[in-house]
Amino acid sequence: MQAMSTTVEWAGRFTNLAYLIAALLFILALAGLAKQETSSRGNRFGIMGMAIALIATVVKAVVDAASGSSSETNGPLATLLLIVVALGIGAAIGIPRAKRVEMTQMPELIAMLHSFVGLAAVLIGINSFVDADSSSSDFETFHLGEVYLGIFIGAVTFTGSIVAYLKLSAKMNGKPLVLPHRHLLNLGILVISLTGMVVFMLAGHSALGWVAMGIMLLLALFLGFHLVAAIGGGDMPVVVSMLNSYSGWAAAAAGFMLGNPLLIIVGALVGSSGAYLSYVMCRAMNRAFISVILGGFGGEAAAAGDDRDYGEHTETSAAEVAELLKGAKKVMVTPGYGMAVAQAQYPVASLVAKLRDAGVDVTFGIHPVAGRLPGHMNVLLAEAKVPYEIVLELDEVNDDFGDVDVVLVIGANDTVNPSAEEPGSPIAGMPVLKVWEAEKVIVFKRSMGSGYAGVQNPLFFNENTDMLLGDAKESVNEILAAL
Ligand code: TAP
Repeated sequence: MQAMSTTVEWAGRFTNLAYLIAALLFILALAGLAKQETSSRGNRFGIMGMAIALIATVVKAVVDAASGSSSETNGPLATLLLIVVALGIGAAIGIPRAKRVEMTQMPELIAMLHSFVGLAAVLIGINSFVDADSSSSDFETFHLGEVYLGIFIGAVTFTGSIVAYLKLSAKMNGKPLVLPHRHLLNLGILVISLTGMVVFMLAGHSALGWVAMGIMLLLALFLGFHLVAAIGGGDMPVVVSMLNSYSGWAAAAAGFMLGNPLLIIVGALVGSSGAYLSYVMCRAMNRAFISVILGGFGGEAAAAGDDRDYGEHTETSAAEVAELLKGAKKVMVTPGYGMAVAQAQYPVASLVAKLRDAGVDVTFGIHPVAGRLPGHMNVLLAEAKVPYEIVLELDEVNDDFGDVDVVLVIGANDTVNPSAEEPGSPIAGMPVLKVWEAEKVIVFKRSMGSGYAGVQNPLFFNENTDMLLGDAKESVNEILAAL
């Protein structure tokens, strides 16, 4: 007996120390991920932290089961077996899925993973409500509050992330869903849910407590759906980072319910860094943070669409573009989602290297929401070994387009759309790369179709714009061959 309690004590100390080390590693991981140069080191810290956290949690669960010190009724072997089976099922589903996923499908995969965090928080909340001691102490009342909030945040994250997944994978229309009085509807749900929280905390394990929790769960599931469904295509980047933040708070809530300090720390880290990223995204998109949280803005305009006639466009060929580039002194490349789809970053890097060798001044202008992930273009260009110093941000290049001879718009659309400067446009107010100020603009895309936000792009019909229609990778390869 004495030996067992000593083992439990040591297991507790080991877990606390391991959790502390893991938490420090997670902070170092975040710090590393802040810069491209240190991001792989940051990733390694994160992997080490997660491995330590996982081992410590499994050891603690098994020792607790052996000592009977937890509410766990299984023996240590059965506990270990259950954990291994759960890990096995997760790995069997997750590993092949992660191996198959294309870089362009990453955002939807992340949205799907966020929905799992939300669902886990809901299940943990319901489970800890069922499990909790029904005697009504002060602690019990406080714990009920944690459970209620955990289920609420989890449910909003769950359905919100599923809608984000459906929109990002184009399985659901990207246009905003504009219900009448939508802000009032959201506010009403919040007020009813808060009132339900008081009822739940007072009613505890009675039938009334169950009813309050059930109503809140249904309302929160609807709220998650409605908040994200109301946001138009072009504003999805903010939603992705916001759901990232929500999933962190859902994990922190689960940490409180399970009494797991590491989960609380990690949840808070993810929650606050996601909130900061959303703030940065909002600034980049010139949107008010609060209106994103409340679900949608400019929705009516986006839902209305645009069927104006912009006139004729001019098409060009790879050979003509090669000739144009031979005479250029200053070239700017503005890549977008189409470069990722075409995997054109490698020929683009070769083209840029060739032009620079010939003495042309070439830079990249990167829009903060180009592609489908924060930093998407930077990752692709780093993969193709484009030197960091020629990859510049929107703020650094947007006043220089007047001096540029040729802009190569490789698979970008919304991020170079001048209609963002027109009031009333669904993307109005979003800063865009002012490529049209350059002497000549070449747009690489496959058709005259619109971009992610579903907004027509007048740039394509400008006099100084030529369209090079076709797959971006093939077009760049043809230019390389012609050079
Ligand atoms: P988009 O507006 O998405 O347009 C991409 C263009 O690439 C399309 O018009 C498409 O035209 C073209 N394209 C696709 N495949 C191609 C291929 N194989 N070869 C050549 N062109 C190809 O791109 P963007 O300018 O990067 O803007 C990003 C949009 O996504 C913004 O609206 C942003 O708000 C949104 N978004 C961003 C994020 C983040 S965090 N970055 C997350 C979610 C949503 P064709 O079909 O005619 O070829």
